[in-house]
Amino acid sequence: MTEMITLTIDGRKIQAAPHTTILEAARGAHIDIPTLCYNESLTPYGACRLCMVEITEGKRTRLVASCIYEISEGLVVETDTPRVQNVRRLVM
Ligand code: FES
Repeated sequence: MTEMITLTIDGRKIQAAPHTTILEAARGAHIDIPTLCYNESLTPYGACRLCMVEITEGKRTRLVASCIYEISEGLVVETDTPRVQNVRRLVM
């Protein structure tokens, strides 16, 4: 049996399998993250950066591409902060 990883996305506790990306975990929980270059049939390569989210690991906060960033235990993700909105606006 696969041990599940618990993380928080937009204040919601979510469980997902190891090696799941933030985007996959969010979609599994019906949390929308916009994408452009991501396609389920292809290997993600993180080119467009439209799927950026803000993560907090310990005291460190930073932006990552959710389609290529794998989840980890205790990860905190915010999908709609002013910083995220600003970077998506720049990407578009
Ligand atoms: S969808 Fe393009 S980098 Fe993630």
